[in-house]
Amino acid sequence: MSERSDLLGKHIVLGLTGGIACYKSAELVRLLVKAGGTVQVVMTEAAQAFITPVTMQALSGRAVATSQWDVREANNMAHINLSREADAILVAPASADFMAKLAQGRADELLSLLCLARPRERCPLLVAPAMNREMWSHPATQRNAQILSDDGSLVLGPDCGDQACGEVGDGRMLEPQTLLEELIAFFQPKVLRGQRVLITAGPTFESIDPVRGITNHSSGKMGFALARAAVEAGAVVTLVAGPVNLPTPRGVRRIDVMSALQMHDAVLPLATQHDVFVATAAVADWRPASLSQHKIKKEGKKVAPTFELTENPDILAAVAALPDAPYCVGFAAESEHLLEHARAKLLRKRIPLIVGNLGPATFGRDDNALLLVDATEHRELPEHGGTADKLDLARALMLELARRMKLPAALS
Ligand code: C5P
Repeated sequence: MSERSDLLGKHIVLGLTGGIACYKSAELVRLLVKAGGTVQVVMTEAAQAFITPVTMQALSGRAVATSQWDVREANNMAHINLSREADAILVAPASADFMAKLAQGRADELLSLLCLARPRERCPLLVAPAMNREMWSHPATQRNAQILSDDGSLVLGPDCGDQACGEVGDGRMLEPQTLLEELIAFFQPKVLRGQRVLITAGPTFESIDPVRGITNHSSGKMGFALARAAVEAGAVVTLVAGPVNLPTPRGVRRIDVMSALQMHDAVLPLATQHDVFVATAAVADWRPASLSQHKIKKEGKKVAPTFELTENPDILAAVAALPDAPYCVGFAAESEHLLEHARAKLLRKRIPLIVGNLGPATFGRDDNALLLVDATEHRELPEHGGTADKLDLARALMLELARRMKLPAALS
């Protein structure tokens, strides 16, 4: 993916507490800074047993704060100064002991002190637990995690897998890249909170014989970007994907299919359980009328084989025709006359919104240009021409959808 600046203008206090996962926090600082954020690292005494402030200072470009008795602070109130500057406090790794302290509201060293002193309405607290699986599953830790959530903090993870102690289970800190994505998602406006969004993405593959088939150049990137943007906006997301080589965005339920018929059969029963349906998949219009049981052989044949095609069902039109249809959005990949073709499709499929894009110009790329077309109007995204990253376009489209659906979070 192209270089992104999703944390531009955001100031993050990154707290480290005692745990071997501290070594991952070095990478996390690097990622936060690369994403455009500024990072103030705060370390407990135990964290300094695992990684040095020198490393964290070099990566963040700022002196690490380690003491509440810091004479360099003019007012000697590091806990107030640090927490007033921050757009968010992320404690990663958060040890079992530190979570217990937070749950009790104790404040006997700088990091817990500044967490307690932060203005809660504008400085959220996110914690990424990291500990042995027995410590994590202990009722006391589970109670503390619940208290933190109830108090309005966001508990990220933990992950399951190999642990530094050699055991396997829940308690690993989330990977730095995942924590970065969680933090970015956290800052996105929750315009689709509580909405259920169903998305199709990628090409379909229509088999001719066991080794060959008909497909197209769709990479699935636009649909996957939409799925990520919908989760970031607070939606519950189901993604029905054709054959693509893309990682599932975090928090998305993914159903893999190959052919248009399989996509149709996966989507139709789910459609009415969703509030929004976004069809970005480049579904094959036709499939071979019959599937050859064995590979069609070349040997001994003088003329090339021919095979008949039969029409695939139109998934989007079928969903739009359901009695309790979700809000439907189509995509029209064209090579010319975008507006005319897109509007014709809007009317043919009886949907409220279609998004036109130039297929050959965008297939496989990270950027795109969209033309939003409804029955009476059309508008470009990005607004002033050119192209934009598919994730930025996806976020803008989610906001547009929320506005069109008159969802309260989008109107305020
Ligand atoms: O008619 P056309 O294929 O160009 O329409 C494109 C839109 O319809 C896309 O949103 C695509 O996902 C959807 N579609 C579908 N089922 C088909 C063909 C297209 O859902 N069989």
